[in-house]
Amino acid sequence: MRARPPTTETTDDSPSRYIARISLSTGKEVPGLIDPDELLVHAHRDHHPVEVMAQFVASRLVHLTQSEDAVRVGLKKIHRLAGKLAERVGSVTGSEAMARQTKKLLGVVDRRVVFRFREPTHLSEKEVRARVEKLERDARTLLKARGRNPRLHVLVTGATGFLGKEILSQVAEDRRIEQVVAVVRPETIRDPKTKEAVKVLSPQERGALLLERLRIGGARAKKFRFVEGDIEKPSLGIAPGELARLRKTLTHVVHCAASVSFDDTYGNSYRANVLGCLNALNFSVACQEAEGSPFIHHVAIETSYIHGRKKASIAQEGALVFPRHFYNNFYELTKAFASIETDRAMIAKGLRVAQLLPSIVIGNSRTGNNRGDTKVVNAPINAFGRAKEASENAGDEPLDKARVWMIARMANSFPGDPTAELNLVPVDRVVAGILAALTVPEAISARIHLATDNRIRSDDIVRIVREELGVNVRLADPTLYRNVTLPIVKTALNAVGEPKLANALQKLGTIFGGYGEWGQPIHEIGNDVKILGLPIRRPNTEHAFRMLCRHNKYVQEFGRVRDADEVARRERVWEKALEEMERRTGHEVAAIPTARFRELLAEQVDFKTFRPRGRLRYARPRAERSQA
Ligand SMILES: NC(=O)c1ccc[n+]([C@@H]2O[C@H](COP(=O)([O-])OP(=O)(O)OC[C@H]3O[C@@H](n4cnc5c(N)ncnc54)[C@H](OP(=O)(O)O)[C@@H]3O)[C@@H](O)[C@H]2O)c1
Repeated sequence: MRARPPTTETTDDSPSRYIARISLSTGKEVPGLIDPDELLVHAHRDHHPVEVMAQFVASRLVHLTQSEDAVRVGLKKIHRLAGKLAERVGSVTGSEAMARQTKKLLGVVDRRVVFRFREPTHLSEKEVRARVEKLERDARTLLKARGRNPRLHVLVTGATGFLGKEILSQVAEDRRIEQVVAVVRPETIRDPKTKEAVKVLSPQERGALLLERLRIGGARAKKFRFVEGDIEKPSLGIAPGELARLRKTLTHVVHCAASVSFDDTYGNSYRANVLGCLNALNFSVACQEAEGSPFIHHVAIETSYIHGRKKASIAQEGALVFPRHFYNNFYELTKAFASIETDRAMIAKGLRVAQLLPSIVIGNSRTGNNRGDTKVVNAPINAFGRAKEASENAGDEPLDKARVWMIARMANSFPGDPTAELNLVPVDRVVAGILAALTVPEAISARIHLATDNRIRSDDIVRIVREELGVNVRLADPTLYRNVTLPIVKTALNAVGEPKLANALQKLGTIFGGYGEWGQPIHEIGNDVKILGLPIRRPNTEHAFRMLCRHNKYVQEFGRVRDADEVARRERVWEKALEEMERRTGHEVAAIPTARFRELLAEQVDFKTFRPRGRLRYARPRAERSQA
């Protein structure tokens, strides 16, 4: 049961708007503002040597027994026993203070409060259901009225991002969609060295470049329009004249823009993810309510990590419960708030809205292409690759060699439990889900996980990284890594004059370590198939991850190739080469063994210039061919 809507004082961006602190002894809300930091994992662990040791032992036991449940139950029992022992000491000595001291000594943490999400509404479940059914019915009627060729007009935010580019690319081929309006902010280009502003690209200039890089030209390019806007501003910062036009024509809004940064401050994450979401929802409400509006529904792109840390329990698609083990970062937390705002807009304002929740998105399932994305999983993979190259290119001086060897060893140690499972989903599958939702009224009101049922374990990741990059990543126990290894490594790296690397390692370890620990949530899936009608066979995660490694090594050169035009050129060459390999071998590229793959690639592509050696035929997308 969630807590009721706010009763205590809240500031504009206070978590108290969404979360209540409940006393375990009285069951009542404890007044007072909630500090965002209280809601993160790091605020609740590593405070006591006993607890650090217990976490370490637990992760070893999980490894040995292969049963997270048994270990969790065991840990709870030990914790309870230690608590009882402390109370016994208290009663024997007749001293409360003694009991407290003993608890402290044994690392027993008394939970006096828990956090709960507030209910998005005062309405009963029956009333909510009735409202939602009406929203679905209305959407179905509006969609039906558009006939077999619905000629959709879709506004997209975040078109210049990782998912956004794939949206544009798939939309170009989607006959149901007649017009796309992308809301884009101007971009300041800076000198890479001095960081001084060199020029400012207008949204239209950014859009033209984007289409060129995505090879969307001719008649297909006419589908797209780029308008200036900023999601952090009311009405998405769109000019009034444009706004009036859009309200008369839009059938959908896909709100995809966000700040996907795992180490950003609460304030920044809140502005981009919650305010941005509120502005997009209000924009859609205005569209839906405009007279004669053809508006069908809003699609909110969220993340399945709004469920935070749930330690191996199922994160249900429909339910949002405050996670027992808190959130990894402010990104996850603010995306959860955005999801609550979306519920509120649906129930209170009657907005027709679908919520889609991708897990961790990686490059294309077949090619690994990611259009230059270097975030999330790409960051550690690129760091491993670069550390390996640095060690191979070390000078001949023994001292130099030793130094680089030491750095590579340190860089290749990564916090993670071998059994931890990651939920990776390729970008093509995610965007197929987003576009499917446009013509599925049943998606309204549902939360739909765009995730996988074939999760990949840390030890498989390590094996594939070893095979593909030749890097021997050693998984370090996350608790020991945080509390012992990282401080030592940082000191050592600073001592050998590598402060930048020390900081980078610290950042990688603290940002991504949380996702490699045991007890990751299991994101329930099913609605992607049942509601959206996506194929039941989800992409092979091992294959997709292998292609991510190969792509980042050859195409992206571990993040060194940054120029967007060059990335686009290389990805085209790559795609052609992979097609040719599949044609020649009769195998899916990801199934070709590593050494053979390299040989085949070398026959077709000059690794120095990344240009084709001969003529590689580019199989153009179907629509492009039919227009030729
Ligand atoms: N990547 C993942 O693994 C993942 C996983 C689950 C869910 N998601 C969700 O998927 C969505 C897209 O993620 P992504 O990986 O594509 O992110 P991304 O590559 O970082 O792109 C973010 C996009 O949002 C735009 N944006 C940010 N702030 C804006 C503002 N104030 N006004 C206008 N545009 C703004 C950016 O525009 P600029 O180019 O101007 O910066 C960019 O187009 C997000 O909602 C994210 O939470 C992503």
